[in-house]
Amino acid sequence: MKKILMVCLGNICRSPLAQGILESKVNSENVFVDSAGTGAYHVGNLPDKRSIKVAKNNGINITNQTARKFEVSDFDAFDCIYAMDESNCQHILRLARSDEDKSKVYLILNELHPNKNQSVPDPYYGGVQGFENVYNMLNDACDVIASKLS
Ligand code: 4NP
Repeated sequence: MKKILMVCLGNICRSPLAQGILESKVNSENVFVDSAGTGAYHVGNLPDKRSIKVAKNNGINITNQTARKFEVSDFDAFDCIYAMDESNCQHILRLARSDEDKSKVYLILNELHPNKNQSVPDPYYGGVQGFENVYNMLNDACDVIASKLS
């Protein structure tokens, strides 16, 4: 079983979408996907309504998810930790206890555009268009991740 963790700041906009999208592309018997936030602002909350809507428009239900904070024990529980942006990535790397922990951390868009270090923009303060843009970026990145996992 491969275990993949998607991480953003609030765990209500980007990483719940990344989780739902990757889950839709892999066999759940072989791959476990979860998500978390580096911040605790929204712990226990459902994903943002706009993420729920964009996912639903694409046939994906993310209303089974609730936000949680990234924990150091996630380095033990997961094989790959995908950060949505550079700030999340640095935050996670600061919590790493070892080079092995650090080796599990990737910027998700580097799967699509290797070594470019691009970030998935935070859509929280914008309109629904920003969420559609995020969905499309994550859908393309998750195609690459899913093909590597299969
Ligand atoms: P996310 O978006 O990191 O994609 O879940 C955000 C959600 C909430 C906040 C920031 C970003 N916030 O500041 O509350």
